[in-house]
Amino acid sequence: MSRLRLGVLISGRGSNLQALIDACADPGFPAEIVRVVANVPGAAGLDAAARAGIATATVDHKAYPGREPFEAALTAELEAANAQLVCLAGFMRLLTPGFVAHWRDRLVNIHPSLLPAYKGLDTHARALADGVRFTGCTVHFVRPDCDTGPIVIQAAVPVAPDDTPDTLAARVLLSEHRIYPEAIRLIATGRACVEGERVVVSGAGLPDAAVNPKI
Ligand code: GRF
Repeated sequence: MSRLRLGVLISGRGSNLQALIDACADPGFPAEIVRVVANVPGAAGLDAAARAGIATATVDHKAYPGREPFEAALTAELEAANAQLVCLAGFMRLLTPGFVAHWRDRLVNIHPSLLPAYKGLDTHARALADGVRFTGCTVHFVRPDCDTGPIVIQAAVPVAPDDTPDTLAARVLLSEHRIYPEAIRLIATGRACVEGERVVVSGAGLPDAAVNPKI
């Protein structure tokens, strides 16, 4: 079985990265992480990657005169590792339409809300302020507008009456760690394909030929 080659972009602690590392540790998982790139020097997730024996790189956005040259350096790192799918995992930089187009249908993100609700930052505080009974998390293919794009998988998470943004974030994070590897499994096995601007998920047991032709 050839495994889908993942590049992971992070900015911070990297708990979703760790969930992907743990999933890929199973030889039966259909993907492997070939490079982890951080835009923040010393990001904690880099240590987790190094501990797992994964090649890492730091591309500090502050060292570049603009977004395009910064993103060109990101793409160079990812392509040097022959990454086939790029996973944003707490990557806190907005991406230009050019970068998103280059990686179209080969770039996924995890977001801590049930998109299209609560795009952007402070999702949990806003959900609590609205009094919603459920929130959750989403893995989606990336399109140029922030936190938009075809949805691969979502998990709904109940809101408790006494939740704070921190307690709610912690509960949602548990679901993030479950669905991100599951989304990668669906994509890597060709079960999740972008058709139009939606992801169509097909049944289990497909032949190898069903693997996503775009990747
Ligand atoms: C997660 O909540 C993710 O959904 C969001 O940023 C956070 C990153 O956390 N995009 P971590 O670095 O994966 O622990």
